[in-house]
Amino acid sequence: MHEEFKLVSRTHNGSGCDLQFLYPSQVQQIRRFHESFPMYAATPLAHLSQTAKQLGLGDIFVKDESYRFGLNAFKALGGSYAIGNYMAQKLGCEISQITYETLCSPAAKAQLGDLTFITATDGNHGRGVAWAAAQFGQNSVVYMPKGSSQERLNNILAEGAQASITDLNYDDAVRLAAKHAEEHDWILVQDTTLENYTDIPTWIMQGYSTMGLEAFEQLPVKPTHIFLQAGVGSMAGAITGLFAAIYGADRPIITIVEPNKADCIFRTAQANDGRLHFVTGDMDTIMAGLACGEPCSIGWEILSGYADHFISCPDYVAAKGMRILGNPCSTDDRVVSGESGAACVGCVAEIMTNPALAHLKDQLSLDTSSRILFFSTEGDTDRDNYRSIVWDGNYPSSLHNP
Ligand SMILES: Cc1ncc(COP(=O)(O)O)c(C=O)c1O
Repeated sequence: MHEEFKLVSRTHNGSGCDLQFLYPSQVQQIRRFHESFPMYAATPLAHLSQTAKQLGLGDIFVKDESYRFGLNAFKALGGSYAIGNYMAQKLGCEISQITYETLCSPAAKAQLGDLTFITATDGNHGRGVAWAAAQFGQNSVVYMPKGSSQERLNNILAEGAQASITDLNYDDAVRLAAKHAEEHDWILVQDTTLENYTDIPTWIMQGYSTMGLEAFEQLPVKPTHIFLQAGVGSMAGAITGLFAAIYGADRPIITIVEPNKADCIFRTAQANDGRLHFVTGDMDTIMAGLACGEPCSIGWEILSGYADHFISCPDYVAAKGMRILGNPCSTDDRVVSGESGAACVGCVAEIMTNPALAHLKDQLSLDTSSRILFFSTEGDTDRDNYRSIVWDGNYPSSLHNP
């Protein structure tokens, strides 16, 4: 496939969907749930002012999710909040009355018995679900798509899950998980909206909003731009919705970034015909976390109403982002960022420095006054690949590509 940058922009008439489930007051409640976990700490917001200047930008802030719950990725925020809500409902309580301690208690276990949570994952979400289920003394089953990393599988097995790599792509692994949930009376924890299945995807998105609220509180200035990478678009939808709820029409310019090989949200934005557009097949991008071919409809509704630009970009930008974040300019904070975590930084760096992409810089209104917020959503979740890219120079930048 010819690798290229594609951009589609949208103008909004101010009538996006209802954002109530991501209002800041609501998100504070969600964060209170996460704060009740003994291992909770807000992840750092790295500041890369010299790197920003080097790239012709005003400032760069990067939320570093490699520190989240000791799990090296943001994803457990969603899985834990969804499982927490499910268990709260079964216990006959409001989630606002529930804490980590309640869910771990012998009384909860006696009332709920053995539950099995099942999911499909590229790695990070499954690890989060397996971790949360284990914290609460419950079981998990995790299916991974063909070609998944052995290290990511091992991390999920280490949380006590029954986990395996299937010979299916991500979206078919989701369908298998949904089928087995139905057959065995297990609970599907997935951010894919299926028929009569919207509570759990909504809770997963709400869980991600804790990361956005922390970033909002940590930022010393209002960002002019936010770049968000997307797989199914739940994370991007949650953060877009939160910042749209906070700032209204004055929100930062929001851009969604996907790999060429799995750009279902870009295709949906481009078609602009009121339908979701899918990518099928293997989606063999190095951005494993973004290798999803079917958008989450709840996330898409928000992105459709509030995101300004959608980019489909080549794999080498993720490698570039990993190298930049691991080796920033001068005394800037270093961020260990994996393929899916670094995609947006690499994409913006390429746009700012490659003369052939100057038109994109203009379309995105990027210049020396831009203050950008990024989310490095994972650390080195596949360490062999991280080193092969950052140390050995695999996936060279466009400048070196034939
Ligand atoms: C590290 C990382 N970043 C971003 C994403 C994208 O999240 P979403 O599928 O909600 O778009 C994922 C999804 O697995 C991920 O693992």
